[in-house]
Amino acid sequence: FWAVDKEEPLKHSYPQIMEAAGLLKENEVVAFPTETVYGLGANALSDQAVLKIFEAKGRPSDNPLIVHISKLEQLTELVDNVPESAHKLMEAFWPGPLTLVLPKKEGVSQYVTAGLETLAVRMPDHAVARALIETSGLPLAAPSANLSGKPSPTTAKHVEEDLIHRIAGIVDGGATGVGLESTVVDCTAETPMILRPGGVTKEELEKVVGKVDVDPALFSQVELHKPKSPGMKYTHYAPIAPVYLVEGSASFMEQTIKGAQLKGHKVGLLATDNTIAQIQTTEITAISCGTNNDLATVASKLYDGLRTFNATDVDVIFSETFPRTGVGAAIMNRLEKAAGHKFIKE
Ligand code: TXA
Ligand code: MG
Repeated sequence: FWAVDKEEPLKHSYPQIMEAAGLLKENEVVAFPTETVYGLGANALSDQAVLKIFEAKGRPSDNPLIVHISKLEQLTELVDNVPESAHKLMEAFWPGPLTLVLPKKEGVSQYVTAGLETLAVRMPDHAVARALIETSGLPLAAPSANLSGKPSPTTAKHVEEDLIHRIAGIVDGGATGVGLESTVVDCTAETPMILRPGGVTKEELEKVVGKVDVDPALFSQVELHKPKSPGMKYTHYAPIAPVYLVEGSASFMEQTIKGAQLKGHKVGLLATDNTIAQIQTTEITAISCGTNNDLATVASKLYDGLRTFNATDVDVIFSETFPRTGVGAAIMNRLEKAAGHKFIKE
């Protein structure tokens, strides 16, 4: 466990970064902060190192990983035939919460791509992540540093809850910023396609490359379509108690809560301060995820909120819903997965 300075890690936390980078060079796995969520990093060029990631997370082997780089020159050993749209997106959004799916080159561990011909790559906008990539001299394969199925970690404590004793170390750079994972965009298609909504919004992408498609599987409530991003087919982000998305007014939320309490349920509520203030019902465990006019804060608090219920005795969780514009698209995508698409509508 290394506590490091998140602004200038190489200046103020050099020994810690050196030690963590040393373990990465020895093909060990180390968790580290990025601006989205904590990642579980390993040498992307080593089969042995990458397999340790899958083992630690209990991740299905058909779900490929994102490779993290700190400078553009690293791309040459990873991908080939980078299309023009991808160049534009890199220029506009890197470093930042955008992952690009590109044609892969030989040499990258086959386990990183789970046998696919494409590779997902991103340049994180976090000084600690970049210091580790630079100091180790390696491209780092890194999924979110949670056990498979659980909400992604936004603090080192979340990583510890899930993975302590399973990994070589955790670099603690405090809470992450965005709080939801990067947007994944497939640039190998004619029109770039969003495979996973995230920190960079569709609206922002379209300003740079024009029309952007969205994988139709993301709209499918019953998950009939096979998503192009293998990870999107798995249950995800789920607390222990079942989650229901309650769509409607605050008074409808209150009725829904009372109805469940009459049936003997211990109710958890995940909602904005605005909604919580309007709920008069007692004996609920209410967790705030910010205010309803600030979706960026809701994004940053969402996973911590979902995880917090696991430390309570609630047996059902009702969550507020959000508009699907801007970062709201990513928030609703994660909430729908946490809820298994269970809605209660006014
Ligand atoms: O913000 C993030 O992206 C975080 C931080 C740590 O960088 N990482 C992250 O990784 O969320 P992970 O492994 O939890 O999610 C990666 C997603 C999965 O849905 C996976 O299926 C998809 O990216 N993916 C990876 N490689 C792909 C590829 N070649 N084609 C399509 N989807 C891919
Ligand atoms: Mg993940």
